[in-house]
Amino acid sequence: MAGNGARREPAAAREAQIEGIIESVRQARNFDFRNYKRATLKRRIERRMSDRRCRSVSDYQALLEKDPSEYDNLLGSLLIKVTSFFRDPDLWEQMARKTIPQILAEKRAGEEIRVWSAGSATGEEAYTLGMLFAEAMGPSFGTADIKVFATDLDEKAVGYGRRGVYTAQQIEGVPRKLRERWLEPEGGNFAVKKEIRRAVVFGVHNLTSDAPISRLDLLVCRNVFIYLNAGLQKRVLTRFHYALRRNGLLVLGKSELIPFAGKIFEPADLGQRIYRKNGRRNAALGQVRLVNLLEQETVSRADPAEPAPTEQFHRDVLQAIEAPVIATAPDGTVLSWNAAAVGLWGRPEAEVQGKKLASLGVPGLTGELLVERSARVREGRSPREQSAGSIARPGKPSVQLQVVVMPLRAIGSQEIQGLVYVVQDVTAVAELQDELRKVSSERQSAHDELQTINEELQSSNEELETTNEALQSANEELQTTNEELQSTNEELETINEEMQSTNAELDATNRELAARTDEMNQLAFLQRTIIRSLSSAVIVTDPKGRITLWNLAAERLLGVAEQEATGQNLWTLHLPSLSRAVVNRLRKALGQNQAIRGEEVHYEMPNGAKGQALVAAVPILDDGDAKGAVILFDDTTRLRSVTSELTQLKAKNNGSRQAD
Ligand SMILES: C[S@@+](CC[C@H](N)C(=O)[O-])C[C@H]1O[C@@H](n2cnc3c(N)ncnc32)[C@H](O)[C@@H]1O
Repeated sequence: MAGNGARREPAAAREAQIEGIIESVRQARNFDFRNYKRATLKRRIERRMSDRRCRSVSDYQALLEKDPSEYDNLLGSLLIKVTSFFRDPDLWEQMARKTIPQILAEKRAGEEIRVWSAGSATGEEAYTLGMLFAEAMGPSFGTADIKVFATDLDEKAVGYGRRGVYTAQQIEGVPRKLRERWLEPEGGNFAVKKEIRRAVVFGVHNLTSDAPISRLDLLVCRNVFIYLNAGLQKRVLTRFHYALRRNGLLVLGKSELIPFAGKIFEPADLGQRIYRKNGRRNAALGQVRLVNLLEQETVSRADPAEPAPTEQFHRDVLQAIEAPVIATAPDGTVLSWNAAAVGLWGRPEAEVQGKKLASLGVPGLTGELLVERSARVREGRSPREQSAGSIARPGKPSVQLQVVVMPLRAIGSQEIQGLVYVVQDVTAVAELQDELRKVSSERQSAHDELQTINEELQSSNEELETTNEALQSANEELQTTNEELQSTNEELETINEEMQSTNAELDATNRELAARTDEMNQLAFLQRTIIRSLSSAVIVTDPKGRITLWNLAAERLLGVAEQEATGQNLWTLHLPSLSRAVVNRLRKALGQNQAIRGEEVHYEMPNGAKGQALVAAVPILDDGDAKGAVILFDDTTRLRSVTSELTQLKAKNNGSRQAD
């Protein structure tokens, strides 16, 4: 249905528009659905309309014009492709047990075997055939000249079949033993093994217009005819007749009920709708002729010939009979045409006598009766044949005839001297039969319809299952993603906790560092205060001689203020009280990492005051690496002068004592 809000066009207009769509498909894609059953086509078109949210057929027609890719979807929907491996197991059981062994038994060693799965959809039917032949033939299958043609109108379906890879669900119908032997896992699916694939040949083929594959031993065409109307069914069946070899088998399957099939083929198994071409030798010619008749729908006519004499007695009897009776010579020349025949056909005996009956175009006497059936009786193959015919009457129902043809024998002789045609007016019976036929044809269409609906239901079911699977897999995907997110979350929580504990550790370390820094600052202050207050001049340098410490005593002794000295290079700094020689000596010793201890140096202040000092210079080494130096000047000027005063006083004292 095209949705609840669909605008309903008047029925006739809608029908015409549906025909328009079918015509557009023919023009755009060269697929001719004109002779397919309307009910199915309509449902499938309406389904596409609903999928594409078209409220009317004309909206859908407009969509097809605007978006030609929709033709592909429509075609996919019109060609219903429901199929499966070993679909209808009873049939395959019968094929494996009887039909296939029988075909193989009729073959000579090395002779070609040709099989056709017509309308094979996605290939399951063709591979089923392949597997059953492989099973029946055993090891010889690998080298045999066997071909299973798998054809369909739907190109995509053919491509799918050619790949030969099916899901676990698709192969469910394959019996376990065959599954293990002929299928192999491939990326989560199952591939048909190459021994079978080698034998199956895929191709796109239209059963209604392409030349059929020929010289077939077996033709399987199931669930295809149900979509075709009666005319097209006959056309395709006639083609199948040509496609099969003599004695070749046609399998239509249980769903197909085509009475016409029984007319041109000999039933081999009516339950499974298996037919044989030209089964009995003497029937072969007849069947070929019948096919010709059906194909050409013409009747060949015989040439007139000379009339043969007949007995007066016979004539009298014939004239007396109320039913129309015609007697002919063995070659069909009319010998007698009784009064009832004159009454029925309105032609006097003189007009028809001596002429070939088949050439007279007598209404109600069919070509089949006059040619095929008459030949059977004439040749003694049949004691009696009968056939139905009709005579049209303008403005009235036609007259229905039942014609029986029998041999005309001379008394006491078996020799056939001619044929007698006895005609019965069965209009009333025929009307009843017609009624019966109509009812059974309606039953047949209802059955077909039901079958189609069943197929559609199955296809919808499969689609639903696919959607369900897609939903399930989306759900699984979501669950997986969720689980991944949960695990990421847990990881993040762990990292967070670790970071919190690292932070706490860092805080503690920071606090400790701050305490240490305070301590260090205090120590540095203490050290600086002590050094500043020392009476000896103290200078500390870095490895390059840059002054880092310069105390108050150094200011006094060397005559440079702390601010000026700190940061300067000792070896280039002008020291007013020290000679350059002293500075160079200190530099040289420290440059070689050597210490100078207790060396006396002389100094002179800019104000002229002179003095001496003891100098000690010690390199600061760390594992042999020079890190700087400490230089101390101890002013000994006062000590010297006190010592010399003491010496003088001692000398004076000694002198006075001696004088006393
Ligand atoms: C329901 S499937 C039958 C598949 C298989 N034979 C089975 O019975 O399992 C019908 C198939 O007939 C194909 N078909 C319809 N019209 C056709 C045509 N004119 N020529 C060839 N194949 C046709 C469709 O494409 C579809 O694949």
